[in-house]
Amino acid sequence: MERKRILTGMRPTGKLHLGHYVGALENWIKLQKEYDCYFLISDYQALGDYAEDVSRIRDSVINVTLDWLSVGLDPELTTFVVQSYVPEYAELSMLLSMITPKGMIDRNPTLKSEMLRLKDVSMGFYNYPMSQVADILLSKANLVPVGEDQLPHIELTREVARKFNRIYSDIFPMPEALIGRVPRLVGIDGKAKMSKSLGNCIYLSDSEDEVAKKVKKMYTDPTRIKATDPGHIEGNVVFIYLDAFYSDKDKLNELKERYTQGKIGDVEIKDILTEVLNNLLKPIRERREFYINHPEKVREAIINGTKRAKKTAEETMLEVRKAMKITGYEDIENIKKI
Ligand code: TRP
Repeated sequence: MERKRILTGMRPTGKLHLGHYVGALENWIKLQKEYDCYFLISDYQALGDYAEDVSRIRDSVINVTLDWLSVGLDPELTTFVVQSYVPEYAELSMLLSMITPKGMIDRNPTLKSEMLRLKDVSMGFYNYPMSQVADILLSKANLVPVGEDQLPHIELTREVARKFNRIYSDIFPMPEALIGRVPRLVGIDGKAKMSKSLGNCIYLSDSEDEVAKKVKKMYTDPTRIKATDPGHIEGNVVFIYLDAFYSDKDKLNELKERYTQGKIGDVEIKDILTEVLNNLLKPIRERREFYINHPEKVREAIINGTKRAKKTAEETMLEVRKAMKITGYEDIENIKKI
């Protein structure tokens, strides 16, 4: 039996951080063994808000590839795709926009909230959910591992696929979303989300010292003055991170107990978290070091994956054109018929 197909992606707008790891990458690493995975670096989508800062996108395409390779995504098992190198994504997006009512885009709650924070919204940005629909359908993906905020885009994809299948021909499978283990990781300052612009990230490429420094800066329990004061776990950033990254749950529960009883200080729990994070990041740093010393492997990952994706894309586009009857204008029978 053929393996089910997965497509998911990331916008190349910066280096990846721990939020990406628990929200997505950790899950992708498991999925790559079971499914036929397409991992998309959506540089076109990123242009929607960074069209005037293309160098940021260019650097990030490489940084994201390096981050993916470093966490253990395997280009032999999976397909890394650079979106702009497969023009079929843009072509399908344009065609699908013809059957997508504008109201469907206007109602998209994720897009709505993102547009609020932008001063000027480009047509490209406004249309990005459409481009994401094409990303998913071009690969005929069955499953789409994403964060919660992306669910409206998957719903849109299903609506558009359903409509296409009904009016032209049944060619697209109905994709389903797969949500990661930790849908959203707070920043080291306790703010809702790790984000480059808030300066509250721990990057996958941070050194041991950088991680230690960032953990020292983390917020804990603001009501606790001395280590002997009973501490609170709820909303405590260090414990939110321990919950996300410390795999020994028995030890973690014991720590929580000692903390609430005022038997362990903030410095000590921060040391534990630093160690947990550095243990996680150690093999990632080592792999990164390897790929930095072997740039040809990075190049290969991009080129081989993109080539494979291009082939699948061409096959799907042939089917789409045939289904929509946008083909054969030059057939002599067609010419004579007029
Ligand atoms: N919008 C996604 C993000 O910002 C990236 C993305 C692009 C994507 N195309 C996709 C995700 C297709 C899933 C499927 O993270």
